[in-house]
Amino acid sequence: MRTPPMGWMSWERFRCNVNCENDPKNCISENLFRDMADRLAEDGWKEMGYDHVMIDDCWSSMLRDKDGRLQPDPQRFPGGIAKLARYLHDRGLKLGIYGDLGTHTCGGYPGTTLDKIETDAQTFASWGVDFLKLDGCYSNEEDQQKGYPLMSKALNATGRPIGYSCSWPAYRGGLPPSVNYTLLGEICNLWRNYDDIQDSWNSVQDITDWFFDNQEILQPEAGPGRWNDPDMLIIGNFGLSVDQSRSQMALWAIMAAPLIMSNNLRTLSSEARAILQNRAAIAINQDPMGVQGRRLLQERSLIEVYWRPLSQSASALVFLSRRQDMPYQYHTSLAKLNYTAGSYEAYDVFTGKTLSGLSATTEFTVSINPSGVVMWYVYPKMHYEDPQDDVIPSFHH
Ligand code: GLA
Repeated sequence: MRTPPMGWMSWERFRCNVNCENDPKNCISENLFRDMADRLAEDGWKEMGYDHVMIDDCWSSMLRDKDGRLQPDPQRFPGGIAKLARYLHDRGLKLGIYGDLGTHTCGGYPGTTLDKIETDAQTFASWGVDFLKLDGCYSNEEDQQKGYPLMSKALNATGRPIGYSCSWPAYRGGLPPSVNYTLLGEICNLWRNYDDIQDSWNSVQDITDWFFDNQEILQPEAGPGRWNDPDMLIIGNFGLSVDQSRSQMALWAIMAAPLIMSNNLRTLSSEARAILQNRAAIAINQDPMGVQGRRLLQERSLIEVYWRPLSQSASALVFLSRRQDMPYQYHTSLAKLNYTAGSYEAYDVFTGKTLSGLSATTEFTVSINPSGVVMWYVYPKMHYEDPQDDVIPSFHH
């Protein structure tokens, strides 16, 4: 996971709906995950990098088997997890699963107590699982201190590469000294730092405020193989307008956040799809340098500016409006945003237009919709003869 993982996860949209009798299309069952795998494979998602299908809570039977192993609910997963993993692998996709370090999962299903860590790691590996989200309900600080590193060891000991997402910090307030990010970076590939996302713009704002208010602590902890996780993308559901959806996509790209959608891929609007499949936004999120971005400015006008450095001397800028009146004309220059002297071009991620001939001191104006963004990919202008010209990213054309 040298770049943030991408894919689809069941929780935010489908929760713990286990009522397959009344709601067969939307309940947590192998059909749901097969359906989403089909969509990822057939609707262009996989090619864009969305290659994980992640099962969240409520997949398992209420009882372990006679050998003490977790087993899927037999009615809802009659084919078993190994068969589902094969179905995904045949389509070039990866399977994620959910566990909980504690007596129970947050939804009340069997948890992984310390004595079960090795068994569960072996079980997941034997099924061909590629990713584990290990939640932290129903355990105390001490168990977590022991259990999260132990699961890391146990996963490595299986010999199967398995991405490891740790909810540990979210259960310890997300900040040092209760949270040791140095240790997390060594044992986990990503970690949930903060509260669950809900289907609303309020929730997106609450999460982004927390992450950027704490950027001095969180930003340095991210890098290739180790990511802060502000939780799932809710684009395509019910809570966000089109502008707010662009805002979530833009801010998650700035944060180098995992791009894990939780939505109904069977019924996405074309607007939602276009935002989630925006090449430039994804390329910014997946930049190989893997440096998390920052909030540069919070203006009295309620405009905020975010910035992320990217490889090849490029960078991303996001202008976010927290106003509730009308599009705001924001005047600034690259120099005011700490850019050094030089000649730049700016590719507007959501309009596809390029602004050329910007010098650091050129004053410009962006029109930002209420709760919307303008997002730029900024790169130094290259000379026509320069053979380096072909490094201009492909989304530029
Ligand atoms: C916790 C996690 C969520 C989800 C639920 C499942 O709340 O933070 O992401 O996994 O548990 O019960």
